[in-house]
Amino acid sequence: MTKPDAKIVEKIKKDIQLLFRHTDFKHEAIRELANLYFQREVSKQTNNMQNAASARIIPESEEVDEGSYHPVDLDTLLRTQIKLPSLPTIFNQIMELMTDPDSSAHDFSNVISNDPALTARLLKIVNTAFYGYRSQIDTISHAVMIIGTSELYALCLSTSILALFKDIPSILVDMTSFWKHSIGCGMMARKIAARKGETNRERFFVAGLLHDIGRLVIYNNLPNQAHQAISYTTYHKDLLYNAETRVLGFDHTRIGGRILDKWKLPGKLADVIRFHHHPEDSPEPFDTAIIHLSDIMMNALKLGTSGEQFVPPLSPVAWKMIGLPVEMLSEIIQETVSQIEEISSILIPRKQDNQSHRYY
Ligand SMILES: [Fe+2]
Ligand SMILES: [Fe+2]
Repeated sequence: MTKPDAKIVEKIKKDIQLLFRHTDFKHEAIRELANLYFQREVSKQTNNMQNAASARIIPESEEVDEGSYHPVDLDTLLRTQIKLPSLPTIFNQIMELMTDPDSSAHDFSNVISNDPALTARLLKIVNTAFYGYRSQIDTISHAVMIIGTSELYALCLSTSILALFKDIPSILVDMTSFWKHSIGCGMMARKIAARKGETNRERFFVAGLLHDIGRLVIYNNLPNQAHQAISYTTYHKDLLYNAETRVLGFDHTRIGGRILDKWKLPGKLADVIRFHHHPEDSPEPFDTAIIHLSDIMMNALKLGTSGEQFVPPLSPVAWKMIGLPVEMLSEIIQETVSQIEEISSILIPRKQDNQSHRYY
């Protein structure tokens, strides 16, 4: 490998100081993630020297007018201004089958096969290297037999949700980038759970996919306040969840929890979403710790973003609870990064896809 340009090395080191400014550099996991970021950026920026020299890791911001913030009560907002999207009917049918002890694999494949677009996506996903099934899976009934109903339920949920939020102004967030961050978080979480010997891993993928969904509700319904929060974080170099609380009086984790309640998804999942930035307070500490770490890994990789520009602080309690040897971080990242594009390209709806978009 050619020796990297000294100016590029200097710039990446400065970027790391900025990007990781809310983390504890003395922590072994943070040092490892910063080191991985350094290595990835050196090879990326050396190959693209012209862009690298001028690229800013955090955009410039105008001064912000904090006097214009009017924090509001979330319950009042939910009653008056915010509309939460509803899940498609097909998902409700699948959910009913999940809770019906008499339902059969045949019932599942009947419901799913009614939706050809969903069927095609599911079959593509279960045949990827990420899922790692040895034989080719060609039909939904075959998928039900091989991967089971819980895994299919998780994938149906993921596919349905990705189609719900489609009209977010791109000035606030790029949707492809948002979903890449979320899908990558779910994939990392699933891999970590596998390393820890967890058997029901699909819940980790769903939790990762949904962890920042509250942000989409904010972007969709409160675009002015979302813009103020983004400007605040750029100007003060603060974390976006702190900026949300400053501007709105609550952050995306609270609204995310509420949307999961509305969708009648398991309360444990809603707890993981609510506490993913403060896993030590979660009633589901282990699952929350894994999502917390996966989110930090995705932010450190800068592979997609939900709007956050910095790496959020790592809870040492969560890190200890997961009990992952530090060298496994790079193993998991290397294994997963190459698969994120593939899964994202299947799951993220293309702009021309014309799927339904309904609200309560
Ligand atoms: Fe978050
Ligand atoms: Fe996140």
